Amino acid sequence: MSSPTSHTADLVVFGGTGDLSMRKLLPALFHSDLEGRLAPETRIVAMSRGGLTDADFRGKVDAEVRAAVPDDAVAWQRFLGRLHHVSVDVGGEDKSGWSTVVRMLAGHEDRDRVFYLASPPMTFGPFCRELQEAGLVTPRSRVVLEKPLGRDLVSAQRINDEVGEIFDERQIFRIDHYLGKETVQNLLVLRFANAFLEPIWNSLWIDHVQITAAETVGTPGRRGYYDHAGALRDMVQNHLLQLLTLVAMEPPARNDRESIRDEKVKVLQSLRPIVGGEVDRFTVRGQYTGQGDMPSYLDEPASTPTTEASRRVETFTAIRAEVKNWRWAGVPFYLRTGKRMPYRRSEIVIQFKDVPHSIFPGGTPNRLVLRLQPEEGIELHIMAKEPGAGETMLKPVPLSLSFGKTFTARVPEAYERLLTDVLAGNPTLFMRRDEVEAAWRWIDPILAAWESSAELPEPYPAGTTGPAGAHELLGRSGRAWHEEEA
Ligand code: BG6
Repeated sequence: MSSPTSHTADLVVFGGTGDLSMRKLLPALFHSDLEGRLAPETRIVAMSRGGLTDADFRGKVDAEVRAAVPDDAVAWQRFLGRLHHVSVDVGGEDKSGWSTVVRMLAGHEDRDRVFYLASPPMTFGPFCRELQEAGLVTPRSRVVLEKPLGRDLVSAQRINDEVGEIFDERQIFRIDHYLGKETVQNLLVLRFANAFLEPIWNSLWIDHVQITAAETVGTPGRRGYYDHAGALRDMVQNHLLQLLTLVAMEPPARNDRESIRDEKVKVLQSLRPIVGGEVDRFTVRGQYTGQGDMPSYLDEPASTPTTEASRRVETFTAIRAEVKNWRWAGVPFYLRTGKRMPYRRSEIVIQFKDVPHSIFPGGTPNRLVLRLQPEEGIELHIMAKEPGAGETMLKPVPLSLSFGKTFTARVPEAYERLLTDVLAGNPTLFMRRDEVEAAWRWIDPILAAWESSAELPEPYPAGTTGPAGAHELLGRSGRAWHEEEA
């Protein structure tokens, strides 16, 4: 079912010709347009330092985006007509670009204004100040901040303060695209629209939880960013912790913007800190080495040279987390993410405990798998009897829901859903300031311990499931990562 058409809006994307814009935002906006969710007068204004005219920008989008979206010549021409480009020197002396934006938006103060900052986090504060100085911030304005929001708690607080001087919290949309994925939203429905799970969703019944985001890609061309991020900042602080909060949160009183986020933040605040010597015991970091035609992290093509930071950065991490509250005491939450793993798969595995007393040989405990990608679906592994007249033989079999097979509607890309929500002014799926800061508060001691450690990340060959330490992390309590045959 398509959502209603949004109000007429001016959507201004800073970093509008960059990779995110070309690969995610513009295709998502085209889909929204195609399905009638963009108001006829809505405009998309890309800002960059690029010196492009509107025609140049439309040509670039035509060349780079058209092949990735459905072929509909009429809709495509209409979409191109919405696009504009303004060259702006953010933080620089030359204010002429800003005057162009001011002229372009003048007289449209009654429209929704969305400023989407698809740029590095240190630009967020200066950009918001420039917006204010140019008189562009109206009561109907919103600002969207891309992750990563800072590189530790202090920098995140500074950015939040700077942006908060110009925009109210209700106008600030901190995006985490994992929250726009269908299965992630389905997790809330699964938990809170079905009665059977809630009574067993706790430490009495659940042995542990695994949250994995594995990627086959490496980091070619991204060294400049990745050397200073690493898997912990790039994936765990945001995407994986967000998934953890949705698994662990208490049922909210209402499905509204604050009730859900209130419950999520309580989970982040209940995470048991991992500090000092515990960091070695409960966390693992790895870096891929070359294998076959896959180069090592250090040999990936890059526009910046290899430095000490490159040698120390983790392209893989696994962490044993714990949520210290009544529901979850004693249940490990294992988080794992890595580049150059053998498969691309993001999933949440809820591993139930074994039956209290087994009367059949060979049973294995139940497991619920929520797959975010590649194929979105839910599987409940139950024990069944294998047909046969002889002795009862047990076999784990999946009760399986594939979204692709069950629903005929197209599964929208995460950014499509989130942009629709931004245009509708609905912040439920966006991170509140206290959430982001609570996540950093938990991450910071791990970062500090890694940074002061003399050891380098454990090597793992590209195309494998991470360093030995990741397997030991579970193995020492007799557990193992959920792996499937390819
Ligand atoms: C981004 C990270 O936030 O998420 C990337 O910066 C990562 O490093 C990407 O590749 C993964 O997103 P998805 O949707 O492909 O799992």
